[in-house]
Amino acid sequence: MELFFHFMEPGFQREEGLAVMNASEILTWKERALDELRAADSLQAVEAARIKYLGSKGMIRDIMAGLKEAPPEERPAYGKNANAFRVEVLALVNERKESFQAQASTGKAETFDYTLPGRWRGIGSLHPITAITEKIVAIFRTMGFTVASGPDIETTFNNFDALNTPAGHPSRDPQDTFYLDNGDVLRTHTSPVQVRYMQAHRPPVRIIAPGRCYRRDTPDATHSANFHQVEGLYVDRNVSLADLKGDLSYFAAKLMGPDIKIRFRPHFFPFTEPSVEVDFSCHVCGGKGCRVCKQSGWIEILGAGMVDPEVFKAVGYDPNEVTGYAFGMGIERIAMVLYGIQDIRHIYENDERFLAQFA
Ligand code: DAH
Repeated sequence: MELFFHFMEPGFQREEGLAVMNASEILTWKERALDELRAADSLQAVEAARIKYLGSKGMIRDIMAGLKEAPPEERPAYGKNANAFRVEVLALVNERKESFQAQASTGKAETFDYTLPGRWRGIGSLHPITAITEKIVAIFRTMGFTVASGPDIETTFNNFDALNTPAGHPSRDPQDTFYLDNGDVLRTHTSPVQVRYMQAHRPPVRIIAPGRCYRRDTPDATHSANFHQVEGLYVDRNVSLADLKGDLSYFAAKLMGPDIKIRFRPHFFPFTEPSVEVDFSCHVCGGKGCRVCKQSGWIEILGAGMVDPEVFKAVGYDPNEVTGYAFGMGIERIAMVLYGIQDIRHIYENDERFLAQFA
């Protein structure tokens, strides 16, 4: 059947003998329609082109009607091109109309002033957690420590058992720990990095391991389900508590200032024996007592101790051959102490007014 094209303006005349468009001709006409729209210099000209190509008696009608006339093998391409014709021409019609309408409402032609100065958005800065982590790591690197890391998803063996924290220990409770369906956990501390590292390396070992940790805490001013720690481990022959105290004293002075002192308080951790909590003298009042240190002159900063022989056995080290110290510190806690941050949630909200203070 012959298709009759009834838009008879010059330019739409079908070529002699070609009754039906073929698929590639549709694309040629699409380009012409788009060119015409680009050249249209008024809302009226755009509307005229719309009617010509997309109106109820426009070219699109004949193109669509031609689909069933197209040879079966050409139909998929024909249909695809017909659709592209309709979609692209319509999109440009709308775009051109909007631009003329915008011009009409602002009274200005759509131009771009290339001489305008750029918008200064400021240079970024390190997030306080990153900055403090890097500072801590840098200090220990000068003391001969190597950076180690482990995965956020850990086995219960690495996160608990190997660290002398047997089944039934309260810290393994699903109320406190995120368990995955396969029984793995989101690590509750960076201590499993000790396990991984010792399993893979013979002593001596001297590592620092920063990383994310997870606990099922209800968020409040001092708790977050996701936080950061830096773990430290030093294993060799004859490592003693005196090494721990000396190294942490040096660290405290480098991190907070030369006048900072440290003290040990007895504590308990399953993976160290003896265990201590380590306080730094208050950097605000110098130890005299103030609001920041709650009048005590001291601020609790980290947990530490001598590696428990059970941990050495779990990783295949001989506790008669080597000793070691380990420590772990919460980065958020140090950031809050150092910068006087009252609420841990500020650290994660990425409010620029907060972040800019650390630039
Ligand atoms: N893993 C402990 C915690 O999350 C911190 C810690 C304490 C790490 C003593 C240690 C350590 O390596 O020796 O609270």
